[in-house]
Amino acid sequence: MQNKLKILIIGAGGGREHALGWKIAQSGRAGELFFARGNAGTAQIGTNLDIKETDTSALSNFAKEEKIDITLVASDDALAAGVVDEFRQAGLKIWGPTKIASKLEWSKAFAKDFMQRHDLPTAKFRVFNNFEKANEYLKEQPLPIVVKADGLALGKGVVICHSVEEAYGALENIMVKKIFADSGNTVVIEEFLVGPEISIHALSDGKNYDIFPPSQDHKRIGENDMGPNTAGMGTIAPLPFVDEEIMKKIDKDIIAPTLEAMRKEGTPFEGILYPSLMLTKDGPKIIEFNARFGDPEAQTYMRLLDTDLLDIIEACVDKKLNKTKIKWKNSFACNIALASGGYPGNYIKGKIISGIEEVKLQKDIIIFHANTKVEGEKLVTSGGRVLGISSVGDTLVEALAKAYKAIEKISFEGMQYRKDIGKSALDLEKTNYPN
Ligand code: AMP
Ligand code: GLY
Repeated sequence: MQNKLKILIIGAGGGREHALGWKIAQSGRAGELFFARGNAGTAQIGTNLDIKETDTSALSNFAKEEKIDITLVASDDALAAGVVDEFRQAGLKIWGPTKIASKLEWSKAFAKDFMQRHDLPTAKFRVFNNFEKANEYLKEQPLPIVVKADGLALGKGVVICHSVEEAYGALENIMVKKIFADSGNTVVIEEFLVGPEISIHALSDGKNYDIFPPSQDHKRIGENDMGPNTAGMGTIAPLPFVDEEIMKKIDKDIIAPTLEAMRKEGTPFEGILYPSLMLTKDGPKIIEFNARFGDPEAQTYMRLLDTDLLDIIEACVDKKLNKTKIKWKNSFACNIALASGGYPGNYIKGKIISGIEEVKLQKDIIIFHANTKVEGEKLVTSGGRVLGISSVGDTLVEALAKAYKAIEKISFEGMQYRKDIGKSALDLEKTNYPN
């Protein structure tokens, strides 16, 4: 009999990491699982390590000593810290893009220049290192205008500005007050795009690739997409308003040329290429590139995936994706985030969570932990997004109804969630979008 594999998952210890671990644990070949970082959910299926996801040498030392067979990288911070490069140099098997390939995510200025160089469809833009020059430019642009910090900022470095004053304030916060520290040394100022926003995930081994069904996140905290941006309040997949034809166009105009360009530039992309796209009236346009699974997109994908995730990851690392067929369930999935009161602003941690033992037993419901921990005997909140309630159904309406019914049983002080996840997708379906 084949030995079981020891697996390490490096990431932000959120719902995405729990979902990847949950799916991997179902593989017949999965042995012990380790998480750096983890949460109270991952602790139920593996061992949480007290190592930061950016401490690349501590991680590779651990992998060597523990004889980890394969490591998965799930978070942008770990990729930007060069964890893939460090593991490869140490001769360790790891899945994810190199530091230089993941620059598509960790530098928005680099990504925009790359898109321009390769004629990829995206919003018109300018890059600035100088506050005064950026401010001069702003004054002449049509409104609304989008101001973005160049580097990683927990999904909060983008400001959509409806007045020149607001744009000035955003620039000042990013470049002068440095609210995102060095991530704001450079800014991108770009044209405001209009249309439904979707998430695309393509798995690439550097040569071959496979595009997952389309999904959609809901980034704003408030219903009807009001209020500040968050790291993501809920996802659905697949999308009823995105047909084969749109997917073919996205492949032809965006995924294929991006992966080809990465290869040509000597930085082949291995891992998940996740562009967020706006389906504008002039066709799909790239809002940004991410170099890893989305959170909470991953949670919905893991509910729909019908192939062994470990087989897929190994085929990717061995550059044999062309020999692997990725199968999806013929269902719809959703994942709804339950967040702390006050998120994405200030919130209080340590609130007792109740009701999840009962909900866990409900048909088709899986709870993915995000920021949870066990204190004494109690499960408590430990961050902004606390839990993801995921569900599947034959239709999107059915999947959503089950998830919302489950949520009724769960509570913690201040708990907030969006009650309209999937609503705009269902509205678009009714209007027979895009016709
Ligand atoms: P990003 O971190 O670049 O994904 O931006 C966060 C969110 O801001 C996106 O998910 C969009 O909803 C919005 N956004 C970013 N860039 C634009 C743009 N050029 N036009 C309209 N909305 C944008
Ligand atoms: N779904 C948003 C993100 O992962 O960046």
